Amino acid sequence: MTPQTTQIPVSLIILDETIYPRKGIDPRRVGMFAENIRDGIAFDPIEVEPCPDRPGFYRLLDGAHRWNAYKSTGMEEVIVIIKDLDGSDPLLYAAAKAIGPKQLTEEEAKDTARRAYAQNTQLSSADIGKAVGRARRTVDGYIADLRAATQMNTDIKIFRMHSLGIPQDRMAARLGLARTSFQHHLPKMAVLPNSANADLSRGFTVAQVAEKHGWPEPMVWSLVLEGKTDHDRFKALGWGFRTWDQWEFNDCDNRFGDDWPGRIPAQLIAHILRYFSQPGDLVLDPMAGGGVTPDTCLAMGRRCWAFDMEDRPDTRPEIEPFTWEISSDQGLSWPVSAKGKPDLVLFDPPYFDKKAGEYDEKSISGLSRNDYLDFLAAFFTLLKQHVKKKTRLAFINADWRDFQNTPAMDEKHKGGILIDDYLEILNKTGWYHTHIIQAPLSSQRFTPVVVSAMQKKGILGVISRYVIVLGLNN
Ligand SMILES: C[S@@+](CC[C@H](N)C(=O)[O-])C[C@H]1O[C@@H](n2cnc3c(N)ncnc32)[C@H](O)[C@@H]1O
Repeated sequence: MTPQTTQIPVSLIILDETIYPRKGIDPRRVGMFAENIRDGIAFDPIEVEPCPDRPGFYRLLDGAHRWNAYKSTGMEEVIVIIKDLDGSDPLLYAAAKAIGPKQLTEEEAKDTARRAYAQNTQLSSADIGKAVGRARRTVDGYIADLRAATQMNTDIKIFRMHSLGIPQDRMAARLGLARTSFQHHLPKMAVLPNSANADLSRGFTVAQVAEKHGWPEPMVWSLVLEGKTDHDRFKALGWGFRTWDQWEFNDCDNRFGDDWPGRIPAQLIAHILRYFSQPGDLVLDPMAGGGVTPDTCLAMGRRCWAFDMEDRPDTRPEIEPFTWEISSDQGLSWPVSAKGKPDLVLFDPPYFDKKAGEYDEKSISGLSRNDYLDFLAAFFTLLKQHVKKKTRLAFINADWRDFQNTPAMDEKHKGGILIDDYLEILNKTGWYHTHIIQAPLSSQRFTPVVVSAMQKKGILGVISRYVIVLGLNN
């Protein structure tokens, strides 16, 4: 079939360096082509594709020298073939076209191979080789270091997910690996920690080992603390242990979890784990945000399945993307079909509309008060169907009062959501609390100016936050 040609203005065509396989334009070739054009010799149409980031423009896939020649002869319109690459790599397509008339130099072939692989690590050496005109083994050599780096990366991700007890099929799907290539990584898991362990036994600190091996710090902690009791883990991590039901922590421990809106301190999670779970237990965090729960589970030797609507596959592969949403036909659905049931559920949702502007627009923080409470009721009901009889739920939330501009005297009952509203929903859906632990938010987030204005107006702020621990048996 003859490809379809179109006439378009030369000025709408650009040369995009990121998909151009050669080191530059050869002026002699352009000059020769320009002469041919003036003599009336017709060339094959040049090939372009729509520019992904400049609507209305086209980028060159084949014919950079002809295009330059057209420009130099003052032609305003040229005949082109507009290609739809349908997911094929444009750099490799351009390279395959370029080698028709003239092979790529060694430098061009290597550079193109490396750029193509860096953009898409799923490409095989054979495919790259075909495009750049080199043998598969030559391409293997061009990209060996890049491949080792990404493989290491994938191995670390698998190790982390494996340590957290995520089933193999979910790991493979999350990492976009076919079953066979996933199986290829598995045998490496047994030896992967060897060099980090060797450095630890030589006396390097956890932070040093993490940096040297490119491991997240919580993973190194999971090695160092393996086999230790919870008590010893707390000591090694420098976390004081609270004996009473008031857990106040001024700062988050930056070694665990990312900087995230509504981040909670790892020490708070660690206390919940220590009091309400056993080593090896499976912990579920349905809205895991910055990942403080999986990180703390690594340090405390618990397994963890974490979900969040925000998908960060590169830095947080263990947080599987999932949006809890009540659909009109199916209601609220469970994210996984696995048989495993959690021993502890650690649920730290957005506190009604606090930080709504900082989460995705589909976040439950965008719901009306009634819809937010209905969501919680549906969630607790669903949870009940997917846990064990003995599972504990640790629900973290704060009183929500519209205190910002209202003196305490003028605040109304209507509109707020207080701890007893949550308790009512929980009890109605079959969850009964055994503990209400106070875990106040830090008051340091209020500036002195705000505090002084609040004091003048008689505004009573909210820093109360609770961990409500519940079970299914009354
Ligand atoms: C308070 S934050 C969790 C913070 C986390 N505990 C930490 O310390 O980093 C609440 C999280 O709920 C997530 N979220 C809100 N609505 C959601 C929904 N419908 N489905 C899934 N995740 C949701 C947000 O993306 C946010 O990360």
